[in-house]
Amino acid sequence: MRIVVIGGTGLIGSKLVSILNQKGHDVLAASPNSGVNTITGEGLAEALTGAQIVVDVANSPSFEDKAVLEFFETSGRNLLATEAAAGVAHHVALSVVGTDRLLESGYFRGKMAQENLIRASRTPYSILRSTQFADFMGAIAQAATEGQTVRLSSAAIQPIISDDVAQALAAVTLGAPVNGMVEVAGPDRFQLDALVRRFLAVTGDARQVVTDPNARYFGALLNDRSLVPGEGARIGTTRFEDWVQRAALKKTA
Ligand SMILES: NC(=O)c1ccc[n+]([C@@H]2O[C@H](COP(=O)([O-])OP(=O)(O)OC[C@H]3O[C@@H](n4cnc5c(N)ncnc54)[C@H](OP(=O)(O)O)[C@@H]3O)[C@@H](O)[C@H]2O)c1
Repeated sequence: MRIVVIGGTGLIGSKLVSILNQKGHDVLAASPNSGVNTITGEGLAEALTGAQIVVDVANSPSFEDKAVLEFFETSGRNLLATEAAAGVAHHVALSVVGTDRLLESGYFRGKMAQENLIRASRTPYSILRSTQFADFMGAIAQAATEGQTVRLSSAAIQPIISDDVAQALAAVTLGAPVNGMVEVAGPDRFQLDALVRRFLAVTGDARQVVTDPNARYFGALLNDRSLVPGEGARIGTTRFEDWVQRAALKKTA
């Protein structure tokens, strides 16, 4: 099958492209660096010619509120219009668990806009909502850092390893469109402050995590329901602790 992965050079996109290639599919890893740009439209129609499935794992280069919303709205509109013209049979997108509960955040307003465009389009679709990638812990710490202090709430979080996200996304991609949303999460639940504290300790980072129930997560206040999936979520197999130990070993190697 011919499958186009928009954002196919990114963290999840590159893993997905390699899984789909190994299964014998004809896969195009599309991104601005390979001449396919969903914002300007450059190369998009040519890339989608003959494609049965399109997977969107692109991300906004800027996390600033207005820029994120503009990115997901413009990219989504251009992509879905081009797919409709090309007769694409399945649009797959990667979103975030709890997106509709996190709308105080500009980033999540952007993801919500992306999802809403997909739901309103004519193309059959599947939205996979994932919890936070283990690889994203450094970015979470960075966004919450003031001086040498990282201010985070103790809200529940169920992080997932990016390899497990890519596996789940490959299964959704090759399945029938669900015309709805599916969730995927890691096997263990933690408190956000404790998880980042562990990540910083293992990676030799001297910053101190301070627990603050009013600390915002990319602009949104959290509770114990905000970031975790509902019943029936697919569960990845790799434990965060095993991943973080490997990350520490790599750092010292
Ligand atoms: N981080 C998390 O914890 C988390 C959790 C759940 C879901 N997600 C979602 O997962 C998705 C993928 O995230 P990621 O971390 O794998 O992203 P990433 O590594 O930042 O990669 C982003 C990709 O988007 C491409 N891209 C940027 N602008 C583009 C444009 N105008 N047209 C086409 N492609 C463009 C980039 O191409 P270049 O390399 O050419 O710039 C790159 O291939 C995101 O949509 C995110 O919302 C993330």
